[in-house]
Amino acid sequence: MEQLNPHKLPRHVAVIMDGNGRWAKKKGLDRIAGHRKGVESVRDVVRTSRELGIKWLTLYAFSEENWKRPKYEVKALMNLLNRYLKAELNEMLDNGIRLACIGQTEKLPPDVQRTLWQIIEKTAHNKEMTLTLALSYGGRQEIVEAAKNMLRDIEKNRLNVKQITEERLSKYLYTSDIPDPDLLIRTSGEYRISNFLLWQIAYTEIYITPTLWPDFHKERYLEALLDYQKRERRFGSTGEQITRPT
Ligand code: IPE
Ligand code: IPE
Ligand code: MG
Repeated sequence: MEQLNPHKLPRHVAVIMDGNGRWAKKKGLDRIAGHRKGVESVRDVVRTSRELGIKWLTLYAFSEENWKRPKYEVKALMNLLNRYLKAELNEMLDNGIRLACIGQTEKLPPDVQRTLWQIIEKTAHNKEMTLTLALSYGGRQEIVEAAKNMLRDIEKNRLNVKQITEERLSKYLYTSDIPDPDLLIRTSGEYRISNFLLWQIAYTEIYITPTLWPDFHKERYLEALLDYQKRERRFGSTGEQITRPT
């Protein structure tokens, strides 16, 4: 396999971890077995990101719309999340990984919230990598929340309409202290965003692989990163401006 260029790594990788259910179905298993196997891919991608020195990793673990799923599946996902968080604490501490979360986390079951906040607190001083879990997350809901909070600040005379810029609006999002993703990976071959980081992915490079999430391990991840390194990010400029800056 070609070598990765350590100087051209994305600063922030975001992942839509999709395909657990189909992975299980293909094997004649219950969907929950797919979610359980998917946790191993999470470990692999977190470890690899840390080894490579990627600073920000954001994983879409549960969408606002996923609450619509059958009760037993939601419950199983919450239990898995709770167990995953508890099991990973030591590794996060050993490797300088800070945990963060985005989304309407107040909707999560109380025991999951407790674990989540405990680990966020215990890893708060870690500086090597920030692992952000998107939980009960929806991009549109995030923008609605931002609009409401901005209006509240205007009502209280803390903000003036003229002061609203892209930067200022970004500060009202859950991701206020996270840079925009450079690379967005979606597994399982769906060509859609499913309400993930709508504002933040304006200029993100998108990589879609048919690999189902439980089969997405280090090798597949490195392939995605290699593909990213071959892209020319133009941000609206011409290719010539990028290769020969004036
Ligand atoms: C992703 O796998 C996990 C979550 C959305 C929580 P899915 O459960 O969506 O798997 P598919 O898409 O049904 O295969
Ligand atoms: C997106 O996957 C959400 C997560 C990966 C957590 P879904 O499986 O929920 O997305 P759709 O329904 O196929 O768009
Ligand atoms: Mg899915």
